[in-house]
Amino acid sequence: MSDINIFKLAVLASGNGSNLQALIDASKSSSYPAEISLVVSDNKNAYALKRAEEAQIKTVTYDFKDKSNYNNLASELKKQSIDLICCAGFMRIIPDYFVKGFIGKIVNIHPSLLPSFPGLNAQKQALDSGVRISGCTVHFVDEGVDTGSIIMQASVPILPDDNLDTLTQKILRFEHKIYPMAVRLIAENKVYLEDRKTNYKLDIESIPEGFLFPDMQVRLDEK
Ligand code: GRF
Repeated sequence: MSDINIFKLAVLASGNGSNLQALIDASKSSSYPAEISLVVSDNKNAYALKRAEEAQIKTVTYDFKDKSNYNNLASELKKQSIDLICCAGFMRIIPDYFVKGFIGKIVNIHPSLLPSFPGLNAQKQALDSGVRISGCTVHFVDEGVDTGSIIMQASVPILPDDNLDTLTQKILRFEHKIYPMAVRLIAENKVYLEDRKTNYKLDIESIPEGFLFPDMQVRLDEK
């Protein structure tokens, strides 16, 4: 149920929306400190929109080739009193002037261990490079492409028989875990951006299981 103090999210998604779904599922728990108030897409056929409708979340689609729609988006975010914008497979580079207005209030999830493999096809970039560990990153959005300050990461081994599909699926499993975790910490004001750097107000007891520990993957796999 809606509560005036709840931390309100807008999720920007262009495609399948499995990360949106992970956030929807997390927010169903009464102990989760955030709710999704708006789902925004640039693609009227995005499956993400169906997921939102199913969860009875307001949706809006904009043609962002028309840049004035970023102003319309900003108005809508204000109207809905959105606290945090979560990019989740949003396949557009958001213009600098929009990002500047929301610094510290936009996050993104990316399927590599940034700063390695920014931009498109991160999983393919990792496979082609021959690295044996990749993963995913939640970061604040700045004016660059996947360059904003890192909040949380999870690592995934790349085994000799991995291919694009297996690696993508393995990484997605961890995206679905760390995105809701990172958003929770922001909603609880335990993670915030200051002078373009991520700050943490975490005592050791409140660090989510797995976070900051090199054996994160094992711990998450046990769940
Ligand atoms: C994810 O791998 C995300 O990291 C990247 O795009 C993909 C979106 O997947 N930015 P989904 O739409 O959330 O299923």
